[in-house]
Amino acid sequence: MSSEDEGGPHVGTDEEKGRPGPSVPEFYGRWAGLYDAIATVPGVARWRRVAADRVARPGDTVVEMGCGSGANLPHLRERVGPEGRVIGVDLTGPLLERARRRAAPYANVAVVRGDATRPPVTADEVDAVLATFVCGMFEDPAAVVDGWGDLVGPGGRIALMDMTATDDTRGRALNPLFSAFAAASAPGAGPLEVLRAPASRFDSRLTRRVAASRESLVARATERRYETFALGFVGLLSGRIE
Ligand SMILES: C[S@@+](CC[C@H](N)C(=O)[O-])C[C@H]1O[C@@H](n2cnc3c(N)ncnc32)[C@H](O)[C@@H]1O
Repeated sequence: MSSEDEGGPHVGTDEEKGRPGPSVPEFYGRWAGLYDAIATVPGVARWRRVAADRVARPGDTVVEMGCGSGANLPHLRERVGPEGRVIGVDLTGPLLERARRRAAPYANVAVVRGDATRPPVTADEVDAVLATFVCGMFEDPAAVVDGWGDLVGPGGRIALMDMTATDDTRGRALNPLFSAFAAASAPGAGPLEVLRAPASRFDSRLTRRVAASRESLVARATERRYETFALGFVGLLSGRIE
């Protein structure tokens, strides 16, 4: 494992597209407190427990890509036990500080600043990868997930949990609201984009990227399992690399 070189992350920012807007670390750094509060509400903790259950086994080394404030770390630590290891990777300093505090009680949990699209870990040490609410941020999520497949290797496990618009009949009426939420939580989107989001379907890029990440895992994984939460707005896909 190595610390991040400070080179630019491979994430799609509005700056890269010629529009002014904060980068991913700037955006999440600014909202770190609020993000952490949302990330740790009790209902969300249940999804996180299930995701940790699907991906981690006792004694495993698990890497969490885009670990944010570390809300998954205690669940992963519980699953791998004292013999395993958990490594959180993220780009955003203020979120990593929170993750580091959350990891502090455990000798075998570490967080490192790095780019999840070029993970700062070597293949021979990783049994499993977890990524929650991250894949929608990558320009080429299929390639990133494929790279994670190489990282864990045959027999390794990957779990991806993401939010998208829902097909569930009980939740469909809320899709316009979800679109506004997607705009409000996207680096670079302003108030006008949030207001227009339900009509412009701001969330369609997110949904497309999440679909691409899932297809990439489906193409390589066996023992696949897909579960949904929150009226289908949250999907968890897990599997073992063939
Ligand atoms: C919506 S938050 C999710 C955080 C955490 N996984 C959770 O479930 O609470 C997205 C996170 O991905 C991180 N992120 C985005 N692109 C990244 C990249 N290329 N490498 C590492 N972290 C990244 C952001 O800094 C942020 O912490």
